[in-house]
Amino acid sequence: MDILEIIDKKRLGKELTRDELFYSIDGFVQGQIPDYQMSSFLMAICINGMTEEEIFSLTDIMLHSGEVVDLSFIPGTKVDKHSTGGIGDKTTLVLAPLVSSLGVFISKMSGKGLGYTGGTIDKLASIDGLQTSISKEDLEKQIQSIGVVIAAQTGNLVPADKKLYALRDVSGTTSSIPLIATSIMSKKLASGADKFVIDVKVGNGALMKNLEDARKLATLMVKIGNKYGKKTICLLSAMDEPLGLAVGNGLEVQEAIDTLRGKGPKDLENLVLHLGSYMVHFASGMEIEDAKKQLLQKLYDGSAYNKFLELVKWQHGDVNHIAISSQTKEFISTEMGYIKKVDAEIIGKYVHDLGAGRKREGDTIDYGVGIVLHKKVGDFVKKGESLATIYYTTNIDFSILKEAFVITEQVVSPPQLLYEIITF
Ligand code: URA
Repeated sequence: MDILEIIDKKRLGKELTRDELFYSIDGFVQGQIPDYQMSSFLMAICINGMTEEEIFSLTDIMLHSGEVVDLSFIPGTKVDKHSTGGIGDKTTLVLAPLVSSLGVFISKMSGKGLGYTGGTIDKLASIDGLQTSISKEDLEKQIQSIGVVIAAQTGNLVPADKKLYALRDVSGTTSSIPLIATSIMSKKLASGADKFVIDVKVGNGALMKNLEDARKLATLMVKIGNKYGKKTICLLSAMDEPLGLAVGNGLEVQEAIDTLRGKGPKDLENLVLHLGSYMVHFASGMEIEDAKKQLLQKLYDGSAYNKFLELVKWQHGDVNHIAISSQTKEFISTEMGYIKKVDAEIIGKYVHDLGAGRKREGDTIDYGVGIVLHKKVGDFVKKGESLATIYYTTNIDFSILKEAFVITEQVVSPPQLLYEIITF
């Protein structure tokens, strides 16, 4: 086989065989196919797409490029949750202990931030001392003792994706729907769960900018899951404004804690209840509406928060020491009116530039910086009122932030949070 012939075949929009895909991916992972040829191959996929058969083969090849986690030590159905990534998305921090407080075992593997969307592992690292690199033995012990763990992905989980993702990031090939679907599903399948609940974010602060693309991605992921006999459901949720009020690692942990104590922003609470009720339904067969009611009770009677405290303690964190900068400035409105837009993408990039995210792998990040919004779409603001508090350490510049808020004289209704659910 010859990689140039394979690239040419894909350039002409022809279907590749499983052997050709294996030759390309395995050769790249082994270092025999250089970055420049793989970039060209990925670009041909971006332009011409992939057939379903190619997508299933690519997922399978990626899934088996490394370790496949065995969760058989956990009794019953194992459920995993994933988000395609958004601004202020701290749902895992609330969901894992909440769902676990209803007796569902949660062994969650999470990642670091990608681009300007944060990652759960970075958020958790803002809690002093908290460990997410957990050995297999400790992970099993923790699950058996308290029923929940949030750990960093092991180094050998889908190494093909690690290498491919790094290259996609620098070769303009991140937005391909088949490449996103195979990247996400190969990791989900390798993480050992039986059923998946996936939050597909839609909007300007998300990978999927419109509903049509989000539907395509969701449909593909459900089909891939079904192919392995692993029931998958995708919830399409809004990401035009940040989720909740806080954006930035430590600030988001604080907001997750508030939510676990029944005092969080309603959009975050609602999304968590939707995702959580499907997780409980998948694990126990409980009706969705009953699961939602029981989860709500666990949020308000302290059980979910207590479970979070147990998790933090087991993972050696000190919940009384969360990195939040003491230097703050208010971003004041110069107009009066209704908030028409709080641009998630601009806010995400702004917080990233404050130091909350990495520009390059290995960069250190500032866990204490970020933004807390005081107004969301549909709210009324007076001239001179604060739109947001900025938590910073070194630099602060409001010029970019001005673009994030659009204020109008007309009344604006609060936006829809959940668009649709895709499963079959
Ligand atoms: N998340 C992933 O894991 N992979 C992608 O390609 C995009 C989002």
